[in-house]
Amino acid sequence: MAYPHTRMRRLRASAGLRGLVREIGLRAEQLVLPLLVAEADTQPAPEGALELPALQRLSISAAVERAREAAEVGLGAVIVFGVPSHKDAEGSGAYDDEGIVQLAVRALKQALPDGPLVITDVCLCEYTDHGHCGVAREDGSIDNDASLELLARTASSHARAGADILAPSDMMDGRVGALRAELDSEGYSDTPILAYSAKFASAFYGPFRDAAGSAPAFGDRRSYQLDPANGAQALREAVLDVGEGADMLMVKPALAYGDLIAAVKRETGLPVAAYNVSGEYAMVRAAAAAGALDEREAVLEILTSFARAGADTIITYHALDAARWLV
Ligand code: PBG
Repeated sequence: MAYPHTRMRRLRASAGLRGLVREIGLRAEQLVLPLLVAEADTQPAPEGALELPALQRLSISAAVERAREAAEVGLGAVIVFGVPSHKDAEGSGAYDDEGIVQLAVRALKQALPDGPLVITDVCLCEYTDHGHCGVAREDGSIDNDASLELLARTASSHARAGADILAPSDMMDGRVGALRAELDSEGYSDTPILAYSAKFASAFYGPFRDAAGSAPAFGDRRSYQLDPANGAQALREAVLDVGEGADMLMVKPALAYGDLIAAVKRETGLPVAAYNVSGEYAMVRAAAAAGALDEREAVLEILTSFARAGADTIITYHALDAARWLV
């Protein structure tokens, strides 16, 4: 029944018809705002060519204010990253109960007990002096199994501080199982794990690494993060994380990885989070500042594409703007 019986434009003829058949409606409560919380005496971030308001380093009180704004516009969650002033070989700041993330989480939960959920990024790279996500051996390689214990300690320390959801982003093998076992033994069997399952070695993390001071001091992250060419491996990672007890799965970055958002959703059926990362945010900001595109239209189109691909949750530096644009 092709043309002229079928006319696809019939249902596009008015705003009313378009609204009636629209498949995707973004909701503020599915959006997550990243917060970079820095200790007072951190080195200043390098001067960026771009001004990126959502990548500013925040004091704990400024982070609480931003989370209050998030609550006002109805965001579902914030995800907290720490920028410590002290780094060492073992990343001890990551699992210090008085570390920057732990202090920030306590302040957030105390100030906003009914506010957005608090997710924490569980990783070592912001805390290690070499900037890698695990323990480095003398030859520069990253020791998977030695890293697991430190990551598990980090997660239970975050849970003690009051984190609602723990999100391991290190890409070590076995970390989800190690975190689950540690959390269960510490009495946090109800705290969900959002696994950064399909995390790629990407050029799009640049602005975040500048802001967090977490660029690797030597080498790169390709021995643990996924090769952008490998979709089948990404799916295996997701399936393995499900087996280890992950409650939610993440695909990161998001913009160039819609195929994997769809595939992970289809294969696992678990809630899927898409992380619209710092470089993606920077690209849109730069293009909008240059007058090349309309920021609001572009952001809502991009976020809609993640939901259309199958993302239930979207982490984005545009979360506050998007929530305001949606009402
Ligand atoms: C690792 C981590 C990174 C990001 C989130 N968690 C950096 C990396 O892997 O290099 C990047 C987020 C972004 O670019 O927005 N702790």
